[in-house]
Amino acid sequence: MNYIGSKNKLSNFIKQSVHSVVGKNLSDKVFCDLFAGTGIIGRKFKSEVKQVISNDIEYYSYVLNRNYIENHTPIEYHHLIGELNDLHGVKGFVFEEYSENGHSQRQYFSEINGKKIDAVRKKIEYWKTEERICGNQYYFLLASLLESADKVANTASVYGAFLKKLKKSAQRDIKIEPALFEINENDHKVFNIDSNELVKKISGDILYLDPPYNSRQYGANYHLLNTIARYDSFAPKGKTGLRSYKKSVYCSKISVTNSFEDLIKNAKFKYTFLSYNNEGLMNENEIKSIMSKYGKYDMITIDYQRFKADKEENRNHKSNSTIEYLHILEKQN
Ligand SMILES: C[S@@+](CC[C@H](N)C(=O)[O-])C[C@H]1O[C@@H](n2cnc3c(N)ncnc32)[C@H](O)[C@@H]1O
Repeated sequence: MNYIGSKNKLSNFIKQSVHSVVGKNLSDKVFCDLFAGTGIIGRKFKSEVKQVISNDIEYYSYVLNRNYIENHTPIEYHHLIGELNDLHGVKGFVFEEYSENGHSQRQYFSEINGKKIDAVRKKIEYWKTEERICGNQYYFLLASLLESADKVANTASVYGAFLKKLKKSAQRDIKIEPALFEINENDHKVFNIDSNELVKKISGDILYLDPPYNSRQYGANYHLLNTIARYDSFAPKGKTGLRSYKKSVYCSKISVTNSFEDLIKNAKFKYTFLSYNNEGLMNENEIKSIMSKYGKYDMITIDYQRFKADKEENRNHKSNSTIEYLHILEKQN
């Protein structure tokens, strides 16, 4: 998934940095990815730590992480994916509100794909109600649907707007691909709450923080993923069919520093790693002065290619390169 602030391309850098600070053998360590998004960082550490704790405030992210992180034993899925792909499309909420030729004329999906998403989503819920599938299979199938739907979405990248014409990838018929997860012996935990609340309730060894760094709210930019994941009933608002969404304190200049300090203060982890870039709401010195209050501070930087959400945004920036910081805190007890 092309996700704002995704650490996919930086995951090796982050892993190497953690190894260089904490050591190469992490087999007795609890690793927490507190702003997990797509879950890519938790996935990177899943096989080498004792436990991954993963969290995000957005429900679609919970679904992805509940699958990629918490699922860790084999599940039966071939026949289920096969049955979903064989379904005929139906006219449901996604078709009517978010698809070509639906009554709301919001062209986020082609007509065929909108109807198919409805059919698949309804079937997954039906199987769960009928107890044909267990919780692990439920989240695996939902994650598979989210990933597959995202591939055929008719957007420039995020769901803040749809394109007037169906782009090439959106014209392709959706195929539900299995959202495969790594099998291993350890139990992992996934949460769906505000990070500042969760941090008071957990403890561990390595805390990885990747909060939003600008004012773009994830709940608004990925609203349709929440709508498919929840499949609840609500009145979509305006041209883009927005649902109500949670506003993150990390997306506001007024609230970000206090919230960040509160989080650092309450963290019961020996090591904290914070990803942030040079264009974020908090500057390097603010972060340094907050983290330094609680222990030994260090920082590593890397040049990085900017997230390309749309052409407009790129035009407003002189260069496509940005500096990513990894701020490191070793807490003293
Ligand atoms: C920069 S993204 C994380 C990207 C992730 N590391 C990845 O590679 O996919 C920031 C994430 O923080 C989440 N978020 C924002 N405010 C939050 C809060 N108060 N508590 C928990 N998660 C929050 C957003 O939903 C978003 O997924």
